[in-house]
Amino acid sequence: MIIMAPVLLILLGATEILQADFLPDEKISLLPPVNFTIKVTGLAQVLLHWEPNPDQEQRNVNLEYQVKINAPKEDDYETRITESKCVTILHKGFSASVRTILQNDHSLLASSWASAELHAPPGSPGTSVVNLTCTTNTTADNYSHLRPYQVSLHCTWLVGTDAPEDTQYLLYYRYGSWTEECQEYSKDSLGRNIACWFPRTFIRSRGRDWLAVLVNGSSKHSAIKPFDQLFALHAIGKDEHKPLREWFLIVLMATICFILLILLLICRICHLWIKLFPPIPAPKSNIKDLFVTANYEKAGSVETEIEVISYIEKPGVETLEDSVF
Ligand SMILES: *[C@@H]1O[C@H](CO)[C@@H](O)[C@H](O)[C@H]1NC(C)=O
Ligand SMILES: *[C@@H]1O[C@H](CO)[C@@H](O)[C@H](O)[C@H]1NC(C)=O
Ligand SMILES: *[C@@H]1O[C@H](CO)[C@@H](O)[C@H](O)[C@H]1NC(C)=O
Ligand SMILES: *[C@@H]1O[C@H](CO)[C@@H](O)[C@H](O)[C@H]1NC(C)=O
Ligand SMILES: *[C@@H]1O[C@H](CO)[C@@H](O)[C@H](O)[C@H]1NC(C)=O
Repeated sequence: MIIMAPVLLILLGATEILQADFLPDEKISLLPPVNFTIKVTGLAQVLLHWEPNPDQEQRNVNLEYQVKINAPKEDDYETRITESKCVTILHKGFSASVRTILQNDHSLLASSWASAELHAPPGSPGTSVVNLTCTTNTTADNYSHLRPYQVSLHCTWLVGTDAPEDTQYLLYYRYGSWTEECQEYSKDSLGRNIACWFPRTFIRSRGRDWLAVLVNGSSKHSAIKPFDQLFALHAIGKDEHKPLREWFLIVLMATICFILLILLLICRICHLWIKLFPPIPAPKSNIKDLFVTANYEKAGSVETEIEVISYIEKPGVETLEDSVF
């Protein structure tokens, strides 16, 4: 590790010099992107798209874009490409801005903002559903060998306080690229849908995707305001006992990967070093410390894959997971 430090420093220095070369001496004037649009591409999902300003001088610099989501929930991020996908509720409307930026360690140059917005969908106040709650239930499926586990979805809600008596609600869910409309509803005494049941869904119980649920509706007397909500399947309260064997495998895999990587690095650096200078004793200190930190970091990223494997390994248990949002 001692010999790595100067190499790293030299590399860092080189990048700094390279970056400095690209920085303009005089101020470059940045123009905002053009044709900024927001398109609904799915349930609770939009695509932001813009074009670089055609009058923008390039002059060998790496222009980036800063995207700012203003509503319904503030967010702020940077990107090098000219589009961006957002998963967000849309029943309150959506608005965002984008600007061209040029940044280095010391300063940030920015154009003015280009903005666009989607209006909240129309509907009379008090007509949308309230207290929408959804539950998933993962069960073994003895009839399909391809998908040995099925995730069912059950949602309930309350009729909006100002919804007319003839209101009919419809529920849709989206998971990844799959969208489905509910086919099995429960009704209240006036015949209005107040719960929905999907015996089978495209939901993967341990997936990282959001579950988006939309309830819209219709009535002869007033426009019914739609309501959508996002559920994080991976952030559910159920504290699963993780077998020790699983952790052991995770740590083992991470360690093997890391040792291989370090060996490769050490080999390369030693070769270089021996060519440049007479041989010196191989460095031993600090390597152990590095192992510990890197193992810890790797364990996090390998975890998901292991989880999937382990849950396929447990047949015969009918109810594997009940998740309440
Ligand atoms: C922006 O949109 C207009 C009208 O659709 C089009 O004529 C123009 O070429 C677009 N500009 C860019 C840079 O794509
Ligand atoms: C519906 O949710 C609101 C808060 O969001 C809560 O105050 C109210 O008690 C809930 N109603 C029922 C019937 O659960
Ligand atoms: C999950 O499904 C199983 C089997 O159908 C059922 O016994 C169990 O009660 C369900 N749990 C919930 C919370 O719906
Ligand atoms: C409800 O939403 C679905 C899915 O977006 C759409 O296809 C349907 O037309 C909507 N219905 C009403 C009454 O707005
Ligand atoms: C699936 O198989 C398990 C174990 O073989 C059994 O206990 C369960 O009743 C079966 N479920 C269905 C729906 O047939």
